[in-house]
Amino acid sequence: MLIKRKTDLTEHDVTPFDLYKERRRFIKAGVAATAALGFPWLVQAKLTLGKITPGPFSTDEEKTPYKDVTTYNNFYEFGTSKAEPAINAGSLVPDPWSVAVEGECDKPGTVGIEDILKNHALEERIYRLRCVEGWSMVIPWVGFPLTDFIKRFQPNSKAKFVEFETLNDKKQMPGQRRRVLEWPYVEGLRMDEAMHPLTILAVGLYGNVLPNQNGAPIRLVVPWKYGFKSIKSIVKVRFRETQPLSSWEKAGPKEYGFYSNVNPNVDHPRWSQRRERRIGEFGKRKTLMFNGYEDQVASLYKGMDLKKYF
Ligand code: MTE
Repeated sequence: MLIKRKTDLTEHDVTPFDLYKERRRFIKAGVAATAALGFPWLVQAKLTLGKITPGPFSTDEEKTPYKDVTTYNNFYEFGTSKAEPAINAGSLVPDPWSVAVEGECDKPGTVGIEDILKNHALEERIYRLRCVEGWSMVIPWVGFPLTDFIKRFQPNSKAKFVEFETLNDKKQMPGQRRRVLEWPYVEGLRMDEAMHPLTILAVGLYGNVLPNQNGAPIRLVVPWKYGFKSIKSIVKVRFRETQPLSSWEKAGPKEYGFYSNVNPNVDHPRWSQRRERRIGEFGKRKTLMFNGYEDQVASLYKGMDLKKYF
């Protein structure tokens, strides 16, 4: 995001869908061993999702096609262009996977992804995702409220913020060989934002496990904030008394604040945030306050100057 580049989807950005389908066919055939033969992109989690029920807060807007959701990505650990994550993320091994939970809580611990899938009822939440770069999508996520996960570890009274970390492993994430950001990718939320019922941990989309490029096996989705808050491939959750410093804030403090609420009235220093391009549509649409979730979340920021706390 910090790097100046074209943000519009072009043919060169997209993996041809037929090629993508072909990859999926191989994945389904379970050819994990092919990684050793030089086809690392064919490896994907063997995890299966159980029952998925419709969850609250879903929009009835038209969903962005699966092809676009999975080939137009931001995942700098696999390259800085939109097409690179789909091409390069095969080297990520999302199974086995575990998430360590530490810091200001009474029951710290490490949980495996199988355990997480077993212990949380999965819901479909069709949410808008609005990137700070000015494009947006509507994605049918599969996940569960972050608050249910948090409660298992019993945060104590000092826990005012939650910090999240992505995997830090140059072998699995070749983009980390370049210092385009400080690794690992870090994000954070205030405790009440984390425990808001809209905030979910996603483990799938379009009814299936998350493709690696979308943050397998588990990622955050905070629909009223710019997409970069929705950190992917999480391995660590830390309860903190003090406000975490996120990767984007570190890289560009004047451009990317801690709150990062979608706010069309606050311009990014280099461009307006008043309008957005929904992927798949021609022309632009008006960006809504809090990405359209104002009724649900405006009370979290009552009395705060949202220009100062951008
Ligand atoms: N998480 C990690 N670890 N690395 C990233 O580069 N990019 C962020 C966010 N989460 C990013 C990340 C940005 S800028 C956006 S817009 C969303 O992921 C994009 O999610 P998507 O590719 O699933 O649409």
